[in-house]
Amino acid sequence: MNPKDFLSMADLSAADIAQILAIAARLKSRRAPSRSLAGKSLGMIFQKPSTRTAVSFAVAMYELGGLALTLSEQQLQLKRGETLADTARTLSRYLAGIMIRAHRHEDAEILARYADVPVINGLTDKEHPCQVLADLLTVMEAFQLKNTAGLKKLHIAYVGDGNNMAQSWLLAAALLGLRFTAACPRGYEPAKEFQRQAVVLATRSGARVKVVEDPREAVTGAHVVYTDVWTSMGQEEEAEKRREIFQRYQVNESLMECAHPKSVVLHCLPAHRDEEITAVVLEGPRSVVFQQAENRLHVQKAVLQKFLGGRAKKS
Ligand code: CP
Ligand code: NVA
Repeated sequence: MNPKDFLSMADLSAADIAQILAIAARLKSRRAPSRSLAGKSLGMIFQKPSTRTAVSFAVAMYELGGLALTLSEQQLQLKRGETLADTARTLSRYLAGIMIRAHRHEDAEILARYADVPVINGLTDKEHPCQVLADLLTVMEAFQLKNTAGLKKLHIAYVGDGNNMAQSWLLAAALLGLRFTAACPRGYEPAKEFQRQAVVLATRSGARVKVVEDPREAVTGAHVVYTDVWTSMGQEEEAEKRREIFQRYQVNESLMECAHPKSVVLHCLPAHRDEEITAVVLEGPRSVVFQQAENRLHVQKAVLQKFLGGRAKKS
């Protein structure tokens, strides 16, 4: 049975992920408007800025025959103190689903608890699961893999901050049985709760997930090298301190020499050139970042069809 909400990568099973990626690949191969979500509306609540998530969800709804409404927190009564619980119960009367980009993951959870309709995580401080689905599709394309089982042959390295991206990747790798190594400075690893959850999932899937301190250890022989900003949205006051702490974690040509000769470089974007990744690597032949950005659209469609397509309302 489908989960009602998609707040965490771990809300999906390995089979769900495989299904979403297969549908996304099919929709990408023949990008034609459909009517699969005709008459359905998605509300998109943004507490933080967005380019890719905002536009890919809106275009995905349009191309599936539905409507997307952008609801910035500023324009909602949330700004004046209306509770998330009341907002959720109100919006559920109009919408077929809600996507939220929230500062606090707990806000997305409260919204989901009170909403009768599915709530989709469009990024929180803890996770960014829709991005990781697009990342997985991109890796499958780069290595011409027919299904998610093929991903098990690859070594995936994440370098940098143990943030929302790293945490959703950790769970995805653990669910799918992948080999995934994150290299993070001490004190900036993925939260213990995610590491523990990944270990539990990995015992079932056979995944080899670990967190190390040395970026070269993670990247040596890696087929996929992934990085993200050192300072996430909401952490701006720590930017200077983080620039110093993360210096050794820059994805540059020297680090890439340790990777597999056929490796690809991913970044969820937006990127800070010459901070977490050099311009040369980001713009170089191994980089698939704009293909990755495009895949947000195709994956969003598959996610929307799964969560908004024809499900019964919660009783
Ligand atoms: N990768 C990503 O989520 O980008 P936006 O912040 O532009 O949505
Ligand atoms: N870790 C980044 C991802 C942006 C898509 C952030 O949360 O700002």
